[in-house]
Amino acid sequence: MKKSVLRKHVVLIGFSGSGKSSVGAHLADRMKVRFYDTDLMIEKARDMKIADIFDRHGEPGFRKLESDMIRTLCQPRIRPGVVALGGGAFQNPNSRKLLLACCHVIYLSCSTREIYRRLGQTTDRPLLRAKPKTGETLRQARLRQIGEMLRRRTANYRKAHHIYSTTGKTVPSAVTDLVRTIRRAYA
Ligand code: S3P
Repeated sequence: MKKSVLRKHVVLIGFSGSGKSSVGAHLADRMKVRFYDTDLMIEKARDMKIADIFDRHGEPGFRKLESDMIRTLCQPRIRPGVVALGGGAFQNPNSRKLLLACCHVIYLSCSTREIYRRLGQTTDRPLLRAKPKTGETLRQARLRQIGEMLRRRTANYRKAHHIYSTTGKTVPSAVTDLVRTIRRAYA
């Protein structure tokens, strides 16, 4: 995109590993707009890693910081850009309502298997530390946990204005497709 034509934020939602941060950063670059990553902004504001915030304040403490950050980003004084949300942020009804009213929301969907592959053995997501049940391997436990959480969240994710599947896509091809979608729908 030569010149930014964004009047509202483009907000990327979806499960961990769906590409919100990696696609979002490149998309913002291509569109010549700012990139906002709510997890990174929370970490910077609190000078703490997300995992430490969960340890110290629990999930409710983190969710409060997350919904406050979303409210701040939606203020009219904030220059429109591309926003990557944490995987659970769109489950909050107030945040969801606000985002759907004042932003272009795109759900980056992705299959359970590909999410599992992309996340690999990372343990930095406090909600994704699967414990194998008896007779289950760690791989099976992780796949089960991702599948269960994804199923619980999908109905809300699907309330986005657009849905784009990143399964089997590289970051550059996803960015090219999304630029086209945004131009067509929002420019
Ligand atoms: C979470 C996803 C994480 C982070 C936190 C909670 C979730 O972000 O916000 O660990 O509830 O799914 P990513 O989606 O960037 O992994």
